[in-house]
Amino acid sequence: MRESRDYRNIALVGFMGTGKSTVGQLVAGMLHFRFLDTDEMIEDLTQRRISDIFANEGEAQFRKYETQIVQHLNTLEKTVVSTGGGLVTDPANFAALKEHSLLICLWCSPEAILKRVGHQTHRPLLQVENPLERIRELLAQREPFYKQADVLLSSEFRTPREVASHVVQHYRFLTGPAPLE
Ligand code: S3P
Repeated sequence: MRESRDYRNIALVGFMGTGKSTVGQLVAGMLHFRFLDTDEMIEDLTQRRISDIFANEGEAQFRKYETQIVQHLNTLEKTVVSTGGGLVTDPANFAALKEHSLLICLWCSPEAILKRVGHQTHRPLLQVENPLERIRELLAQREPFYKQADVLLSSEFRTPREVASHVVQHYRFLTGPAPLE
């Protein structure tokens, strides 16, 4: 028998640079859902930038903010949430999201990730001498968590719109077509 799940939201999980925010906004538009981004929610909550939180309060405190935000998500419906790349590596966060969301993991090779985010400076975990090595290490650590998502979707050779269409197809398959307006 199929496990009964509540899919009132969609959570996009996966590594930095896999397109979660861009795809999430497109999916929200296609389904007439609201879009939220956990990094933006943390910046609103703390009135600080993610890079400042890492620099001044440390990663452990940032992870506590993530958990706080995840608890709030439980009250939402018809929402697409783009989650920070490390958020689901806490099994409690993963389990909390799974209570109300279809979990879709976007996936890319380390090389593609580097190409997409290598020139950006706002991701503190990648401000190191050898970012490709760091991406490989983090991906290897996180893979077991990412693989527990309901759907794994490569965004490497697809446009954001193509990825978004796949997400919507999976969602509609699991929840049935939206009622005609
Ligand atoms: C992080 C990913 C970032 C942000 C923070 C830490 C991570 O979010 O939460 O810099 O641990 O992978 P994006 O995945 O949206 O870039």
